[in-house]
Amino acid sequence: MKPVSVNTIQKYKNENKKITALTAYDYSTAKYIDEAGIDIILVGDSLAMVALGHENTLSITVDEMMIFTKAVTKAVKNSFVVVDMPFMSYQTDKKTAIENAGRFIKESGAKAVKLEGGSPYITDIVEHCVNIGIPVLAHLGFTPQFLNTIGGYNIQGKNAENTQKILTEALKLEKAGAFGLVLEMVPEECAKVITENLKIPTIGIGAGRYCSGQILVCDDILGKYSDFTPKFARKYADMASLIKNAANDYKNDVVEKNFPSENEVFFINKEEKEKLDKIKCK
Ligand code: KIV
Repeated sequence: MKPVSVNTIQKYKNENKKITALTAYDYSTAKYIDEAGIDIILVGDSLAMVALGHENTLSITVDEMMIFTKAVTKAVKNSFVVVDMPFMSYQTDKKTAIENAGRFIKESGAKAVKLEGGSPYITDIVEHCVNIGIPVLAHLGFTPQFLNTIGGYNIQGKNAENTQKILTEALKLEKAGAFGLVLEMVPEECAKVITENLKIPTIGIGAGRYCSGQILVCDDILGKYSDFTPKFARKYADMASLIKNAANDYKNDVVEKNFPSENEVFFINKEEKEKLDKIKCK
């Protein structure tokens, strides 16, 4: 199997073949997701919430994202790894933004970065990154790093005017060279118009059936993160129960002296055992 690249992703859009994407934050999860043949693995800043227990994504830093991204890239052979640029790693000035994007590519092994928003400032950063060889995945609709200005986890693009605004920004991001666009929490009619008017693929999360591909948070599909489950997050496993049951069974085995068994311990050889038996407590 050939590793997924920006060309593969564009080819899928051109051939109307759906693109698959999931988040991953650690080595073993990334390994299995890669082996399952998922096209894009996003080391999303959602890890601040689902892996680190923060209230939102705003507090995670470049150094923290770097640790998780390195773990993921070590495991991945074929999926295209994208890392989220965390809040305030690209918002202050363009030089800092480019330097941080470059750090992610050089140090973490990710192939691309994701930035939220579609202002002229962001579009400029996208263009600069692409010009120096850093692929960028754009992100519009509900953008979690704008949580406090949006005023909550609110659906975006609910009317024609707002959809037009998102489309205008999307077209500028496409022109700037973004290889794809994450569209989060917009009605599917809005996502459909945007998808049909772009040459680059849209990757939807809570954006309906007409996007070029879909992304979900891995802890949501695994049933592992239970603090908040969005309407669009389909659950494919119940890891919360698996973990609780396994921990409970282990606890019972230890308490009831069923663990460890003879097969789960180390022994010294016969000769040493005989010497050991002669040791007397003084
Ligand atoms: O941080 C994240 O997980 C995201 C989503 C698009 C999945 O940005």
